[in-house]
Amino acid sequence: MPLHTQVDESSQDAELDVNPVYVRERSHEIPRYRLPEHSMLPGTALQVVRDELILDGNARLNLATFVTTWMEPEAELLMAETAAKNMIDKDEYPQTAELEHRCVNILSNLWNSPAGGTATGCSTTGSSEACMLGGMALLWRWRAGRRAAGLDATKPNLVMGSNVQVCWEKFCRYWQVEPRYVPMVPGRLHLRGAEAAAKCDENTIGVVAILGSTMDGSYEPVLEISQALDRLQAGQGHDIPVHVDGASGGFVAPFLQPDLEWDFRVPRVASINSSGHKYGLVYPGVGWVIWRTPDALPEDLVFRVNYLGGEMPTFALNFSRPGAQVAAQYYNFIRLGHEGYQRVQQTCQDVALHLSAEIAKMGPFELLSEGRDLPVFAFKLRDDITSYSVFDLSERLRMRGWQVPAYTFPADMTDTAVMRIVVRNGFSMDLANLLLTDFRLYVRILEHHPQTQPPPEIQHMRQSFKH
Ligand SMILES: Cc1ncc(COP(=O)(O)O)c(C=O)c1O
Repeated sequence: MPLHTQVDESSQDAELDVNPVYVRERSHEIPRYRLPEHSMLPGTALQVVRDELILDGNARLNLATFVTTWMEPEAELLMAETAAKNMIDKDEYPQTAELEHRCVNILSNLWNSPAGGTATGCSTTGSSEACMLGGMALLWRWRAGRRAAGLDATKPNLVMGSNVQVCWEKFCRYWQVEPRYVPMVPGRLHLRGAEAAAKCDENTIGVVAILGSTMDGSYEPVLEISQALDRLQAGQGHDIPVHVDGASGGFVAPFLQPDLEWDFRVPRVASINSSGHKYGLVYPGVGWVIWRTPDALPEDLVFRVNYLGGEMPTFALNFSRPGAQVAAQYYNFIRLGHEGYQRVQQTCQDVALHLSAEIAKMGPFELLSEGRDLPVFAFKLRDDITSYSVFDLSERLRMRGWQVPAYTFPADMTDTAVMRIVVRNGFSMDLANLLLTDFRLYVRILEHHPQTQPPPEIQHMRQSFKH
């Protein structure tokens, strides 16, 4: 979460006015940064907080986030009813624990875990925690193997594309693992097998393959990467596991690309994570991580909590965590079934392909992806268009409420500025056509009146989008 600093109240507007209609007194103020002296009625507090939040963007027009912004009323009701449940109190809420258990099983099956029921996994607050747990398991396993062989275990590294989400950078920094990034280059915007294998050595704890990339929605070729690592093992003897970061794709590929081999069908895939709160269609925050076999998850990472007079193994960074999202995940599984998830994801993809095709036809843009993997695509302005930028267009669209992020690619391609559209459940073909109308309009306006540069002190704000 953002780190917030203490406010110097003498230099800030430290009082918050409460609308006179909500209170009896003519003028009523509450301190903004201190606990108020007295209570207020619940209805008043509700109005004050609601009023504060009206400046937040409209989630339905947000094409930046991968995270669920709409659930049906029955799911919202269930989440409100289960808001007080604490995931860690397995003893107190055994049925919530049972629903988590069923969800792990449903995902293990969806991701083709080996027959015989050896996969093991858990829910998390999201993919970031799930990746952290996946990375820790890789590190612990590698270290145990090195120590058992009497070898140096102090210089671990992790191989991945520079397009990884920031959670992998965090994992490496917090656990002092050297990140070995394979740079993106024009024409290859994600990790491929040969490049991954070339970065590996005896200190490589694993390779992260992303399904699909946060940058452009494309899937990294998990099978190709694994086969390159098979060849490396045959030649040099290093047996390097793959973790698939399926934050989005884990809930898309099983429905849209069922024949694509990216999951536990690929023997080298040791673990997979996904966000229930992205294409799993649950409000934030819930994620999942599953290991192929119990030995992929070293025993000394596991803690045991009380459970019905016995104990239950757990692996998590948090202790207390809301249970509502797990109940909602199970609700979605039984509500939608395979056919329902397929229909939702296919509709998103149809909209994404329509949008990308129409944007390509407009003239000034070049597509970097089309939305054929995830229903997500990225595009840039043609190199000869210099009178306005994707940042200008993003700002113009924002004036109408659309949030279409513009950002620059990571190291080695930082001079490439792109826009990205994430199509999620609820973004209809009708909304897509309205967006296209505004796109055409603002492109025309920008062509006619090229944007001047904003003052230098606010230019960094245009780069504020975070993946
Ligand atoms: C590939 C990838 N991994 C990890 C994450 C982090 O996911 P979460 O927001 O669920 O923590 C994201 C988020 O966009 C992602 O796209």
